[in-house]
Amino acid sequence: MRALLPSEPGDFKIPNHAQVVVVTGAGISAESGLRTFRDSNGLWEEHPVEDVATPEGFEADPEMVWRFYSQRREQLRDCVPNAGHDALVTLEQRLKAGDGSFTLITQNVDGLHQAAGSEEVINIHGNLCETKCSNNACAQAHNTEWDTKFYFAHIPRCGHCNSYLRPAVVWFGEMLGLDEQRKAINALRRCDWFIAVGTSGVVYPVASYVQEARAAGAQTLLVNLEPSQNAYAFHHFIEGKSSEVLPKLVADKGSST
Ligand code: OAD
Repeated sequence: MRALLPSEPGDFKIPNHAQVVVVTGAGISAESGLRTFRDSNGLWEEHPVEDVATPEGFEADPEMVWRFYSQRREQLRDCVPNAGHDALVTLEQRLKAGDGSFTLITQNVDGLHQAAGSEEVINIHGNLCETKCSNNACAQAHNTEWDTKFYFAHIPRCGHCNSYLRPAVVWFGEMLGLDEQRKAINALRRCDWFIAVGTSGVVYPVASYVQEARAAGAQTLLVNLEPSQNAYAFHHFIEGKSSEVLPKLVADKGSST
């Protein structure tokens, strides 16, 4: 494995026929006003992570967990995508207009990529504004009636089995969605460019996707404020804010092969 090279966004020319996979984390939404996870000493809005982001936490106090996610949904109502999200839309459109392909795998549950206009998005950790039944055996897995950005003090129940509904996000100790994983791996196995943005590289399996991309022969770029925990696995590191780096990185720099 080659050493990580510090680079500038202008060093790269992503061709229109490139097969690109982008992975994003909380850092890309930071400039839209959402806090990242690991700047908070293991606390999410003052709650220990295990209280609000595990099935056990939900079982122990479902009302509290529901209120916590209701508050997070409310925060989203004032958030808009930033120049980093917009740059990825520009890249997707350019590749689709050429012979390229684009897949965006996001760990973020905030929906800001879709709000910006990204189309090929895999929500690998779910979506904060969607709900599902907390009973895994329930046939009514996804209840769109409660998909919302609003705050509800009381936890709704599933119309099918009467269990509590819960946010459709992946908690610690839970499996990622099989469909999402399958799509992600398929895209990684055929990519020739892999770009990770605003992620600390500590949560698996997403932190291992760079290795999957390298096995496919891809150029691998990390765009982050600091080297992530898995930075050693990338070919190149571009240090900086995603809202500043991405517009320069994805700009069409003329014909290339
Ligand atoms: P983290 O909070 O772990 O990491 C955010 C990264 O973004 C850090 O490395 C920051 O240095 C960087 N960063 C902050 N602002 C930035 C900016 N403006 N531009 C570029 N980089 C910036 O967030 P994630 O890596 O997304 O999982 O966390 C991964 C997962 O851990 C989350 O999806 C969540 C969490 O526990 C689940 O909920 C399952």
